[in-house]
Amino acid sequence: MPSLGEPFIHVEECESTQLLIAADATEGTLALADFQSAGRGRLGRTWEAPRGTAIHVSIGLRPPGGRPPQELTLAGALAAADAVEVATDLFVQVKWPNDVMLNRRKVAGVLGELRDGLVILGVGINVNQTREQLPTDARRLAGSLRTITGREHDRDEVLATLLSRLEHHYGIWLESGLDGLYPDIGARDFLRGRRVSVDGLEGIAVGIDRRGRLELDVDGGRRLVESGEIAY
Ligand code: BTN
Repeated sequence: MPSLGEPFIHVEECESTQLLIAADATEGTLALADFQSAGRGRLGRTWEAPRGTAIHVSIGLRPPGGRPPQELTLAGALAAADAVEVATDLFVQVKWPNDVMLNRRKVAGVLGELRDGLVILGVGINVNQTREQLPTDARRLAGSLRTITGREHDRDEVLATLLSRLEHHYGIWLESGLDGLYPDIGARDFLRGRRVSVDGLEGIAVGIDRRGRLELDVDGGRRLVESGEIAY
């Protein structure tokens, strides 16, 4: 099982930790920043947090060829969910494809980027932001560990759990692929049973299948969605 976190790059500020992992980085390279000036979210969005309040981390992984690297965002989301659950003692869910939900609010997100066989897995966890410090457009739907538990949390502890759980889930994925993560994914599935709309396709979410796709019941027929923007 690979050990993640070495080499360790820690900067006070950068544009995005995704850019601190070089294309020839060894597996396990980790980049951490106290502040990102141009943090990236999924679908071209930005990801922002005031200095020193959140976790912004990127990890370089080199999965064997022939394995779908996009599955690793689910491994990252499971690891982030575990870290939030350990810190808060509250049940945490994963909203397909990669949002981490606590009390129906998004508290963490995962971004996977691929560069020449290197997967750069970026994880952002809203730890100690106050409600006013959460992005305005997402305030209704976003939360931080602090806004939900009412107390501040130790970012180093959350990061340590995140890394050990990522090692765990990545190890399982290396051995048995998404099948090995399937029980954890099913247990944390936020969308199952909810009426959702994915890029205009409306239905009831049945679950996440063994290839990481969202299965929808659309008027009694099954439809599989590879990726997209969810509304529920
Ligand atoms: C999302 O939910 O849209 C994904 C958010 C991912 C944010 C993290 S923070 C660390 C890493 N660096 C970035 O610029 N983005 C990811």
